[in-house]
Amino acid sequence: MKILVIGSGGREHALAWKLAQSARVQCVYVAPGNGGTACDPRLQNVPITDLHALCDWAHQEEVALTVVGPEGPLSEGVVDLFRSRGMRIVGPSQAAAQLESSKAFSKAFMKRHHIPTAEFETFSDASLAHAYVDQKGVPIVIKADGLAAGKGVVVAMNFEQAHQAIDDMLLSDSGVVVHNEGGARVVIEEFLEGQEASFMVLCNGLSALPLATSQDHKRLLDHDQGPNTGGMGAYSPAPIVTPQIHAKVMREIIRPTLLGMMKEGHPFTGFLYAGLMISSDEEVKTLEFNTRLGDPETQPIMMRLKSDWVDVLWASTEPSVHSDERSRDKHPLDAVELLWDRRVAVGVVLASHGYPQAVRKGDTIEHLPQETEDCMVFHAGTSKAPSHWTTTGGRVLCVSALGGTLTQAQQLAYEAIKGIQFEGMQYRTDIGWRAKRVI
Ligand code: AMP
Ligand code: GLY
Repeated sequence: MKILVIGSGGREHALAWKLAQSARVQCVYVAPGNGGTACDPRLQNVPITDLHALCDWAHQEEVALTVVGPEGPLSEGVVDLFRSRGMRIVGPSQAAAQLESSKAFSKAFMKRHHIPTAEFETFSDASLAHAYVDQKGVPIVIKADGLAAGKGVVVAMNFEQAHQAIDDMLLSDSGVVVHNEGGARVVIEEFLEGQEASFMVLCNGLSALPLATSQDHKRLLDHDQGPNTGGMGAYSPAPIVTPQIHAKVMREIIRPTLLGMMKEGHPFTGFLYAGLMISSDEEVKTLEFNTRLGDPETQPIMMRLKSDWVDVLWASTEPSVHSDERSRDKHPLDAVELLWDRRVAVGVVLASHGYPQAVRKGDTIEHLPQETEDCMVFHAGTSKAPSHWTTTGGRVLCVSALGGTLTQAQQLAYEAIKGIQFEGMQYRTDIGWRAKRVI
């Protein structure tokens, strides 16, 4: 069968790489893809970004299954569009994607369904927001309501930062935030302490198949210093998610979310990603929902996946059978058991000069290592000219390695990185450090 992956990042390269390993696959298309997906003979880039044009193309090509990587197309309704033409696609409807595309929606949803999350209020009036911060004190967290490409959250450690963030998000229109209906809004919420983990499940209605756990590294610099980024590296599994915490997350967060979405008339399909904050006394709260896989978490997770990914995603797109909790018939997804490599996978992001603020493009990348089964270089912001590779974005590559222990996986990834060069290359040297503390 022909498969289409929508997106152009490292997550999409890893997804397409894994899908192409299935014996059922004739070709994996990536739209628009990147330099890495262009060079893999089993993958083919499709230079279409307009969603209607892409849908027409996929229909004509008889693409059997489409997988959506990033949040943008989901919030624009790509899943509804493909389904209206009778095509199978992995992702949530536009209405269900609001769990990510509107912080105000997702926070109000969590409150309605008693899903543990930080205390919050939502504001569109700046003076009321300023007054709320003055009343609550700092540290405090200010979040823009709409999608903001990872730039919509300010963890304010002092009043000046908090007030500045409110003005930036409500009063100035920098174009970074995509405002939802009703205009600019902010969610202001309680600062939570603890350790973060990424918990992703593949869903259809009330059925939920958890993927391996992982942990991202959001800050640019070692020891979690510097500005927030889209993610500088990840590893899987995350030992902080013990079996007890895993069960609690399924019981208190994932299942009530799926049931709530079903009851509200927006059954959830596709990947649900709960960003967790786990406190030292094992209390778990939902920091955010994403309605897609994480980047870079997907890269180490795909390294560890042993099951046929096409079979799994295909099962997830079978029509849903249950409409409420009591009449709960089995969905084909309930029968899927994922097989994971027992080894640890680490993915280290190599970012370009100026990332995450003023990204420079066009630097020449040299000495990309030979890929092996245990060490893959997933591309994100790259393009291939006939004679050389160049950088085209903020996150350029994600070097991902498997090892019998975390240390061995780190050694393999960092050994491969040693050879790679481009002007202004930035990366963290401590991906996985938190796991060592737990182990
Ligand atoms: P989000 O996009 O909501 O995940 O926020 C981005 C990052 O900001 C998270 O990964 C956390 O590191 C941090 N963050 C978000 N909400 C909170 C909170 N309530 N308390 C502490 N840190 C937070
Ligand atoms: N790595 C965090 C995210 O994908 O949102």
